[in-house]
Amino acid sequence: MLSTPWSSSLNLRTPIINAPMGGVAGGKLAAAVSIAGGLGMIGAGTAGSVELIERESAIPRQARQPFGIGLLGWAVDQEPLLLDAALDAQPILISLGFADVSPWVQRVHDAGILLATQVYDAQGARDAQTAGVDVIIARGGEGGGHGLNNVATLPLLQAVLEEVAIPVLAAGGIGSARGLAAVLAAGASGAWIGTAFLLCPEALTPAATHSRIIGANETDTVYTRSIDAAMGFPWPTQFGERVLRNRFTERWSGDEESLIEDVRARTALSRARDEGDFDLAEIDAGQGVGLLSSTRNAEEIVQSFTDGAADLLGRWAANSPARPENDAGGAATA
Ligand SMILES: Cc1cc2nc3c(=O)[nH]c(=O)nc-3n(C[C@H](O)[C@H](O)[C@H](O)COP(=O)(O)O)c2cc1C
Repeated sequence: MLSTPWSSSLNLRTPIINAPMGGVAGGKLAAAVSIAGGLGMIGAGTAGSVELIERESAIPRQARQPFGIGLLGWAVDQEPLLLDAALDAQPILISLGFADVSPWVQRVHDAGILLATQVYDAQGARDAQTAGVDVIIARGGEGGGHGLNNVATLPLLQAVLEEVAIPVLAAGGIGSARGLAAVLAAGASGAWIGTAFLLCPEALTPAATHSRIIGANETDTVYTRSIDAAMGFPWPTQFGERVLRNRFTERWSGDEESLIEDVRARTALSRARDEGDFDLAEIDAGQGVGLLSSTRNAEEIVQSFTDGAADLLGRWAANSPARPENDAGGAATA
């Protein structure tokens, strides 16, 4: 057992939240993470739909487990029914990101649901707090999937914790018990973890990607807009995504203007995505991918991160008369 005031307030047995990863974090992973004591999130990513939200959220609900749902703000702007479906599914937490969340705060709160959003700098954290968000995710550039690449997790977390009075979760590159202990010691109220769950049997990650994920080290990712540009996905252009380097990113990352004109390259990527050819198709992953060496189920991951972090934090606590204090969420206790 490891807790922070925020994780205790949600009755979690550990302050671990699996990030809502589109195409990876469905209801099965969410249920498994919650059963293990954390909070499981379902990701409605670029391909998210009302049907996906209804289908996947039925799984943790049937297991009588708390869960959360992650939505893309720009997708909700285009299809407001996504938010309706998420509210109807009765999660305890909704994350909305990649857009100004102010218009949605009241509706989420009226449904009795907590609202989280990802931020990438101190100004974003101040804005989120002013908007009435309940919990901020300080998401560093080393994280997998979409975000900004401007500040790394540790300097971002420190800056954000100084800035806001509401709970802050750390995200980006937390790939072992050591990373979890580090962010809790710094004062985070929990860890929002994506890449470390990629190989779980409960995740929806295509099996054909597993050997590439296992083979990748921490220098094998790249932050790129090339996939969204090629596929014409309507992501706001300030956001790129961190993926495993492959033949496609090596050729086109940074050369998106030519890529948009190159119908053959775009068609080849589209076909590769359909056929699961990952020489070209993307695998979203953060720099913590280097720490992944085998398939482990969600319970094993949550347990080993929790026990390892409690042990690491306890070593310092034993040598120090005073526990570290955190204005924003309180210190972790093991
Ligand atoms: C495969 C994958 C898919 C992701 N999809 C989403 C998504 O649909 N919505 C979202 O808010 N974040 C998404 N993210 C980003 C996560 O929310 C989170 O910021 C990130 O995983 C944290 O860094 P880490 O991967 O190093 O743990 C995704 C991340 C990965 C690795």
